[in-house]
Amino acid sequence: MKRLLALTAAAFISLPLTPAPAIATATDPAALSHGTPGAPGAGDPYFPDQGNGGYDAGHYDLSLDYEPSSGRLTGVARISARATQELSRFNLDLVSTLSVRSVTVDGRTASYTQGGSELVVTPARALGAGRGFTVVIRYDGRPVHVVDPDGSVDGWIKTSDGVYNANEPQGAMTWFPGNHHMTDKATHRFTVTVPSTRVAVANGDLVAKVPKGGRTTYVWDSREPMASYLATVSIGKFELADSRIGGHRVTTAVDPKLAGDAAGFPDRHPPVLDYFSSIFGPYPFSSTGGIVDHAPEVGYALETQTRPIYPRVPSESLLAHELAHQWFGNSVTPTLWRDIWLNEGFATYAEWLWADKLGTRTVQAAFDQAYATAAEDEFWQTPTADPGGPENLFHDPVYDRGAMTLHVLRREVGDDAFFAILRAWAGEHKYGNADTAAFIALSERVSGRQLDALFDAWLFKPGKPSL
Ligand code: ARG
Ligand code: ZN
Repeated sequence: MKRLLALTAAAFISLPLTPAPAIATATDPAALSHGTPGAPGAGDPYFPDQGNGGYDAGHYDLSLDYEPSSGRLTGVARISARATQELSRFNLDLVSTLSVRSVTVDGRTASYTQGGSELVVTPARALGAGRGFTVVIRYDGRPVHVVDPDGSVDGWIKTSDGVYNANEPQGAMTWFPGNHHMTDKATHRFTVTVPSTRVAVANGDLVAKVPKGGRTTYVWDSREPMASYLATVSIGKFELADSRIGGHRVTTAVDPKLAGDAAGFPDRHPPVLDYFSSIFGPYPFSSTGGIVDHAPEVGYALETQTRPIYPRVPSESLLAHELAHQWFGNSVTPTLWRDIWLNEGFATYAEWLWADKLGTRTVQAAFDQAYATAAEDEFWQTPTADPGGPENLFHDPVYDRGAMTLHVLRREVGDDAFFAILRAWAGEHKYGNADTAAFIALSERVSGRQLDALFDAWLFKPGKPSL
């Protein structure tokens, strides 16, 4: 379900062709048809290898078997996709420390190579443009997390009792093959088998739990489109709770070490979601909840779709932040990593709104506190809408200057237009991707105002904007 595949000429030139491409010979059937290889990346300057060209993934059916004691994962990925060009071969993103054992395309054996974080698949016959196809990949190995440009870790992060699985910005390739750029959203089904002493929690709705011979299989259905950085299969000694509370299906998994502090955790969701629904529009997913793990070594939470993951029991502001991402980031997703303020600035502003609603602190006070940062401070040197590189994705300016940008917009256009803009943003781009230019255009359309100067100062120019 791809909305964008903007491959610029520059991206073609700068992309490294990591794996040795399979060269078609005169006897190779692929050489007889007219397909060309899909691009090895989606063209995002922050992560050039991420994503792939030439096809659009629609559904991932993942069957995973994990043994925490050995760290061994055995997986079968069945991916339904559509060719967007006549395709002689195509890439998937998967780290080469996991070994691919076989690949079929529409049931026929396909050849493949692995190198870097690319799996290159050559089907027996080229795929016609527009054609739907299914690729099945059998693989195994011991997944490990990846270290990000900012030094944090993401991916398959092992804990004392299982896995803290958070994949923003690039961890998905550490545990399953896919088109891992946020512009290719797809539905997912996770069938995960673990020892019965553990629980496997994923996105979407729990549809089955089947114990058999000391192991239990959990099946999770994620029916709304999802970018793979928002997928999670987290494993541990969790207490699983699944109930309907105030019209929401709330599914939570809590590490028993935190059970005391987490008492009442499920009930904390509906009030936040109902407030956000009243201002942003309907909650976009079929279920909600959260995963509360004991992972002090990870330190950060992630808005994994439908069910955020937390390294501790979240504060009220962290809970509000991750739930707000379900609208801003998960349902409406940026098109490039540099637009990450559309996630983090919005979720931070939502924290301010929730604190105001609770009477803890007004939005204006939150703004004033952030704006009080001295003009000389390094903070003001990072423009909100392009933090400069992947090492700055989660820097304070992305969050706080992003939220301040929204508040300045609100002061400029008034509450009615401002909240109409937020609702239109969530509504018009539901389950899709949209960039900063689209947000500016929408703000001008809804408010009927020319807002270039405001956005220029707050989004694009370094330095502290004056009020
Ligand atoms: N989006 C997450 C949040 O704001 C932060 C993810 C940080 N990821 C990382 N690899 N450091 O809640
Ligand atoms: Zn966030």
